[in-house]
This record gives sequence, C-alpha cells and structure tokens, in this order.
Amino acid sequence: MADSADRPSALPLGALPDEQKTLLRFTTSGSVDDGKSTLIGRLLYETNCIFEDQYAAVARTSEKRGDERVELALLLDGLAAEREQGITIDVAYRYFQTARRKFIIADTPGHEQYTRNMVTGASTADLAIILIDARHGVVTQSRRHGFLISLLGLPHLVVAVNKMDLVEWRQDIYDAIVRDYQAFSQKLDIHDITFIPLSARDGDNVTRRSDRMPWYQGQTLLHTLENVHVAADRNYVDFRFPVQTVLRPHLDFRGFAGTVASGAIRPGEEVVALPSGRASRVRSIETFDGQLAEAFAGQAVALTLDDEIDLSRGDMLVRARNLPQVGTEFDATLCWMDQEPLNPRTHYLLKHTSNKVKAFVGELHYRIDVNTLHREPAATLALNEIGRVSIRTARPVFFDPYKSNRATGSFILIDPVTNRTAAAGMIRGASRAVADVARSGQAVSHRSQNVQWEGGLIAQADWETRNGHRGAVLWCTGYSGAGKSTVARALVRELFADGCQVMLLDGDNVRHGLCGDLGFSDRDRTENIRRVAEVAKLFYEQGNLVVCTFISPFQADRAFARSIMPQGAFHEVFVKCDLEVCRRRDPKGLYRKAEAGEIAEFTGVSSPYEAPQAAELVLETDLHAVEDLVAAVRRYLREQGVTR
Ligand code: ADX
Repeated sequence: MADSADRPSALPLGALPDEQKTLLRFTTSGSVDDGKSTLIGRLLYETNCIFEDQYAAVARTSEKRGDERVELALLLDGLAAEREQGITIDVAYRYFQTARRKFIIADTPGHEQYTRNMVTGASTADLAIILIDARHGVVTQSRRHGFLISLLGLPHLVVAVNKMDLVEWRQDIYDAIVRDYQAFSQKLDIHDITFIPLSARDGDNVTRRSDRMPWYQGQTLLHTLENVHVAADRNYVDFRFPVQTVLRPHLDFRGFAGTVASGAIRPGEEVVALPSGRASRVRSIETFDGQLAEAFAGQAVALTLDDEIDLSRGDMLVRARNLPQVGTEFDATLCWMDQEPLNPRTHYLLKHTSNKVKAFVGELHYRIDVNTLHREPAATLALNEIGRVSIRTARPVFFDPYKSNRATGSFILIDPVTNRTAAAGMIRGASRAVADVARSGQAVSHRSQNVQWEGGLIAQADWETRNGHRGAVLWCTGYSGAGKSTVARALVRELFADGCQVMLLDGDNVRHGLCGDLGFSDRDRTENIRRVAEVAKLFYEQGNLVVCTFISPFQADRAFARSIMPQGAFHEVFVKCDLEVCRRRDPKGLYRKAEAGEIAEFTGVSSPYEAPQAAELVLETDLHAVEDLVAAVRRYLREQGVTR
C-alpha cells in the first residue's frame, strides 16, 4: 500500500520546544462525503500523530474491503462508534502537533444539527476549514457554514477545494469555485480567507505540495495552519472576571474563583465589583500551584481582594475605567438548535458567563435566509434557523458585544422544561431602548447608600387584625378589552361594601400621573410594571387588599412583581379572553385604531402578549358572566385565608 511511504519518518529539524509552540484551534465542516474524515485522518497520519498499530489496523480493514488504498477516514471510525453509543457527543476533539505548533481540531459530526455542532465546535476556534467537493462546487451547505463562521466571528477561514483528483486537477474548475465563493463571502464579515486546491485522499497540498497542480502558487494546508497568526485575535485588553464560586476555607481567607474571560490582571491593580460598584484592589492571584504574578484570559484562578466585598456567583470583577454594558435588554443573533421551535411566549434560562437568569425573546426582528443572506419576517425560529432578536432578562447582565469580546458576548438559552440547549446567541449590543435606560439609570439601582428603610410603624398583623382580612396583591393580567377593569371594579365594590381595606391600581389611571411619562415600548411597559409593583407592595405592607389591573404582557415583568412580594402574597389572575373577542368588544376603539396603524405597539396587534403559564386563578371572560367571575375570586380569597 503506497500510503505508508508518504509518512515522514521523523519530525523535521528545527522543531520548537513544546512550551514555545503556539496553539491553534480549528474546526472543519463540509457536507456529507466532502472528505472531512479523510482530511483529518491524513493530517493526523502525516504529522505522525497516529500510532503504527492504529494505522496497521486501518490498513488491514481497507485491504479486506478491497479498497484501492488505505482509507484514512477509517482512522476516525472509532470515534464514530463512540458517538453512536453515546449519542450526546456534539464535538469531538482531536490533537496533533508539528514542529511549529499544537493543534486542536473540533470535529463536529452530524449534518442534521449542523448549527448546534458548528456553534459548539467553532465558538472557541481560531480558524475554520470548509471543504468543498470540486465536482459539486459551492453548495448551500458551504454557504451556510461560511455564514455561521462569520457570525461566530472566527477570524480565519480556509476553503479547501477537495477531490481535485476527480476533476483531473483542472485549474478552471478550481478558479470557478473560488470566484463563486468569493462573490458570496464578500457579503460576510470574514477578513481572511485562503483557498487551497487539494486531494485529501492522495495527500496533494495537505502536508506536501502537489506536483500535479503546478498552476497553484499558494501554500499547503498544513503550512497555512502552522503560520496563520492568531495571538492578535484574542481579547487581552478588557479585563472580565465572572465569579464562579466564593471560596472560604477559613475565616482569614476569602477568594473568588473563576476563569478570566478576557483581559489580564495583576496583584495591586484596582478592580470594581458588579453589580455593587464597590472598588477594591487585587491582593493575590491564587492557583493550586501557588500564586501568580499575572492572570490571563482562559486561566482558572482565585482572586483575593484588599477589602471585604460581598460577591456571589454571576457577579463580575472588571476595571473601573473599562466597564462592560449592564442591562436587561440587548439585541442578539440567535442560532436555534432545538427540535422544539422558539416559543416567544415562554421563558428560557439564559446562561451567560457564570450567570444564569430567566430570559425572554422579546422580539424576533427577522430571520436570515442563509443562502441569500436576505432578511425575512418570521414568527418563530426552527431548528438550524438564525434570526435577529431582542432578549430581555429578569435581572441585569454584564455583557460586551460579541464582536469585541467572545466570552462576555455569547450566551446560550436553555429550555427550562427539557434542560436542553435551545439556542446559542451572539450579543450585538444593547437595544436602543436599553441604552436609554442605562443613561437614565433605571436598569441599575442607583439607590443612595444613605437612604434607609423606615419600618416598624404598625405591624402588618395589627393592620390585618383591625381590617379583619389579610393583605394581598391580586394581579390581573390580560389583553386590553379582556375585562380586567370590569371584573376588578365589580370586585372592589363588593369588597368595599364588606368593609375591606381595598385599593385598585389601574393601568389607564396610573398612566395619568405616576406613569404619565411612559409609553408602550417594551422598555416603558417594564418600567410601568416596576413602578406599580413597588406601589402595590407598599400598600400591601399596610394591610391592603390591592387589586391591580395591567395588561402586563411580559412574563418577566410579572415575575418581577411577584418576586418583590413576600411568599404567598402575590396572586396572579389571568383575565383570559380570546383575542378575537377583545377585538370585537373594542370598548375604547383602540383595536380599530391599532389595526389602522394609528396606534403603534398595541398589545395583540403589534406588540406581544405572553400568557401566564401558572396563574393562581384564570377568569375566562368570554365564557362566564362578570358576577360569576367576581364570585369565583371571592371564593378563592376565602380559600386562601385572605378574607373570611
Ligand atoms: S402595560 O402593558 O404597561 O401593562 P397598561 O395596563 O399600563 O399596559 O395600560 C394599558 C392601557 O393603555 C390599555 O387599557 C389601553 O387603554 C391603553 N393603551 C394605549 N395605547 C396602548 C398600547 N399601544 N398598547 C396597549 N394599551 C394601550
């Protein structure tokens, strides 16, 4: 078998000592049969990274099968078997090294879930190789992969035009493919593309220059991989240290453990803790092997500080004059990776650095057709689809645009029911709305350290004894025209007649004064609910039965309202009515105006409504009479022990 002769017998002279070798992480992709396994097999084999016995086993199998030559792709078959048993392997890592460099290949098998595989494999890579079969030219998959690579911000792309042996090593065929791909890639954000004609099967231009394509003046694939410049691509500037755990082995030591996401830090340098904004200095950088004089991106360390600062998982240490953005809303590109399509009505868990928060896909701006790169309107994202979205989180996150920081600019969405990774996202930046919030200081608490809570006026129990009922917040949510106010007003009248200490907070009314400065953008609605929830809480604390009627269309906002009340005090009442019925009722004529385009961002027409998933009470106003619904609420209040 001819192949064993190709193998260099020893590493060339002038090899770098191991510790001086740089590391290149790369990923490969192609459609089925493009020769990916053969190419990886050949790279491993020709760089002496395959044991003789492995090679011999493959040679025997090839011979048995009657192959013309040793089928190097078989070297990867052991891996395929593992994968079939384990199923869960998204990415397999293979290692090899040459005289100059160490390499990690993220091999992303499977083509069904190519987005998932590419995203998981490529997100930490420096370079991607896309294989194109010379016989077939540029296919949809080659374009998709290129697009994903540009989204993931991989700085280098090698387009390997494979199987040149099957097109008689023809230059015109190669040139046409290069022209075709260049025309497409001009629209992408990839700055460094190298094209190489090769034959993975025969080994031409993989590690050895081919003499069968004298018209090609460029380098071999291995030479390209060995020489591409990667250090400058990493972010060593913006120090970001997401706290993973707080270490407190004994009283005199407190360290914050985590991985430096980007940048570098030395003892003595000033840091600021987010979200508290407290400043301190790094006292020491601890590792299992002793202290360090400096910690870089990618290193797992524990930092001790000069001052006692309270930090917990998800908090972040940064530099005072180099802050990330802080907010609860940002724009992102989302790659959907789950069989179950995006559900804009439900919440996901957003995992971002060491932080996990509840999040919603607030708005799907458009889907991107990966073939044409055109934007198209869409109601959801299905498996492998990519779209531009606004994400809203229940608590503020500290982020950077993915373009400037891959570590703090990327996140995943986890389906809280199945626990599967539903999507991977790249943050583009704060939504415009958020930039405004950040400026006006609403997203971050600006409470002065000098204001203190004045408690202890009258115990809540005393209010409740006098009132003859407990305090409660009844939070009615539903479409405009669903009947929230109608039911709530009838209820409040009855409770009042019974001598209850009751109060009504109504959407239209608070918007006359307290919230008169707010409109109906997502951000304004969030702020509206934040304010009224805080008001409801104050009244609750003084024994009131507070009935709130707000569309409150976002689950995260309602979750916020619930979160600030004591356990059991908040009762979500879903005033449920078919949207069609609300439209027909149209008590204020607003649906008509919204449909005529006279009112923007109208709930149910041009702004979403996220129905409650687990409301304490559901009132179906399109099925039952108001008196019956009021009676149902009163029954509920008695059952809950709120009233007698
Ligand atoms: S919320 O979304 O922020 O909870 P809220 O309940 O305060 O809304 O106010 C809703 C009321 O404002 C509606 O009952 C309706 O009368 C009026 N309104 C005016 N414009 C809009 C709009 N674009 N979307 C929804 N309601 C609107």
